[in-house]
Amino acid sequence: MQAFVVVLWCVSVIAFAVTPSVQSAETPMKAVVIHEYGGPEVLKYEDVQRPEPKENQILVRVIAAGVNPVDGLIRSGMFAKHEKASFPMILGADIAGVVEKTGSKVTNFKAGDSVFAYASLKSGGGYAEYALTTEREAAPKPKVLTYVEAAAVPVVALTAWQALIDIAKLSAGQTVLIHGGSGGVGTFAIQIAKARGARVIATASTANQDLLKQLGADVAIDYTKQKFEDVAKDVDVVLDSIGKDTLARSYAVAKKGGFIVSLVARPDRDELNKRGIRGAALSVEPNSDELAEIGKLIDEGKIKVIVSQTFPLSEAIKAQEHVATGHTRGKIVLKVADEPK
Ligand SMILES: NC(=O)c1ccc[n+]([C@@H]2O[C@H](COP(=O)([O-])OP(=O)(O)OC[C@H]3O[C@@H](n4cnc5c(N)ncnc54)[C@H](OP(=O)(O)O)[C@@H]3O)[C@@H](O)[C@H]2O)c1
Repeated sequence: MQAFVVVLWCVSVIAFAVTPSVQSAETPMKAVVIHEYGGPEVLKYEDVQRPEPKENQILVRVIAAGVNPVDGLIRSGMFAKHEKASFPMILGADIAGVVEKTGSKVTNFKAGDSVFAYASLKSGGGYAEYALTTEREAAPKPKVLTYVEAAAVPVVALTAWQALIDIAKLSAGQTVLIHGGSGGVGTFAIQIAKARGARVIATASTANQDLLKQLGADVAIDYTKQKFEDVAKDVDVVLDSIGKDTLARSYAVAKKGGFIVSLVARPDRDELNKRGIRGAALSVEPNSDELAEIGKLIDEGKIKVIVSQTFPLSEAIKAQEHVATGHTRGKIVLKVADEPK
């Protein structure tokens, strides 16, 4: 069941992945490309043709690209049975950069605009000097952020937003338990929940207890020293990004009528029914309106962005290896070009 949600998400993300070589422009660009599935070593830093925007697309000069756990899973071929992707393929969905060119039907953006986007692989792939996105995926870059920080936002912030607000309908005064509070999704989930007026209980290892508190968690639990169920009781919402034993033990802490949203597994129907709680698995979708709203909260100082490490684009292998540990603090971002002045 654990693999189910990830498959669902990845299939939607990569079903129509485009190959960089089919683009028509003659100008070359650097990109990190895979020609086959495999370990991190299949990531190749090489020249490909720069893509050209179709009528509804936006060509972005990428300044920074975020790295997500799913990038490595796609690279490994974990979803090969379910996808129609073809090689060569450029991975990466999180981009921040400057609009270079727009298609004829694009009205909300123009050349020179600073943007960030969850650019689905349907559009192209973000580990590159130029990437394609659409108006439904992109929003104005928050002014207070660098491009590196902005590239750390889209996928994980939208995931936290869609889980807590769209699905679980978290409201002021409710209590939410956020597992993995120090990771990409968790750091945004804590702050989105606080901005919503909720009480937040969050889990992470010893080294990240301070971070949970800095982000606004009311209660921080060190999962290496304490069982979360000894502290969190009768919560309205659980956000599960860990699965397995963590999800299995989470049913008991949700109150009757409460909600469990998992990012990595489909909650067990029998457990939910037995306890009178609701549950859902989330598959994050690009959403430019929500991304713009998140950007507003960032500009208002209500959400901070935590980038723990950056790597040059040419070192995508190292970046993915770090992310694959499952212990990233905040986000890891690829620097593709210098920040514009
Ligand atoms: N379905 C979807 O649409 C969707 C969208 C986004 C992400 N995801 C998935 O959700 C998961 C989390 O994504 P992410 O980007 O936040 O990952 P991440 O940045 O790697 O963060 C993982 C966090 O989990 C913490 N952690 C590890 N083991 C834990 C445990 N037993 N209990 C509590 N916390 C634990 C780690 O903190 P410590 O270092 O302190 O242990 C780390 O900060 C990934 O599997 C990703 O693929 C799914």
